[in-house]
Amino acid sequence: VMWKIIHLDEVNSTNDYAKSIAEESPEGTVVIAKRQTAGKGRKGRSWASPQGGLWMSVILKPERTDPRLVFVGALAVVDTLADFGIRGWIKWPNDVWVEGKKIAGVLTEGKAEKFVVMGIGLNVNNEIPADLRETATSMRAILGKRLEFNEVTNRVLAHLGRWYKLFQEEPLNVIEAVKERTLLINREVTVIHSDGEISGTAVDILEDGSLLIDTGEVRVRVVYGDVSVRPG
Ligand code: BTN
Repeated sequence: VMWKIIHLDEVNSTNDYAKSIAEESPEGTVVIAKRQTAGKGRKGRSWASPQGGLWMSVILKPERTDPRLVFVGALAVVDTLADFGIRGWIKWPNDVWVEGKKIAGVLTEGKAEKFVVMGIGLNVNNEIPADLRETATSMRAILGKRLEFNEVTNRVLAHLGRWYKLFQEEPLNVIEAVKERTLLINREVTVIHSDGEISGTAVDILEDGSLLIDTGEVRVRVVYGDVSVRPG
């Protein structure tokens, strides 16, 4: 993909902005904002987006809508962290964690058969709000120094382009890569969904991207959607 970047100082949400221009924009259009005033996470949560973090949304036009596409964003973040000497893990399906704390999240939205907007939020140099410091971290906090912001951005886009291409050619190789970098396999987890909880051992990520959980009695296939997973 050829990336074409639109830089904004401030916007409510780069995902919303990208969605509003997606139909008439070519694949590879990227919206990056210095600050978001209403950054969004999954499940209607808000996403703190002060200056210094990477708040970015990428317009993609894949042939088919595929929920596994979210992994492409998480893999690009993990590889970017590795470029800076940070070991990151994918917390299925769409978070990246470092040293037991969340450092990035991916939020894909779209219009079936028209476009996908992949939003990536990565804590780079930004402050982590006090109430999130137990559970969230940044590249600056991990490395103890500020990073070259443009370098981080370029790395994410380079890795994203590579994983996206692989995803279109060999999606199962992408699933394999997720499995190698995932935090949950062989861990005790609790899956929280709209009408209850399931606890068990996460045993596998299947070809369709779902998480397989062994409760001791049955094996349950968890399709992402309205779920969150808590390592137990
Ligand atoms: C999550 O972990 O729940 C997903 C967080 C996604 C945040 C990014 S920041 C850029 C883009 N714009 C948004 O409003 N959200 C995504």
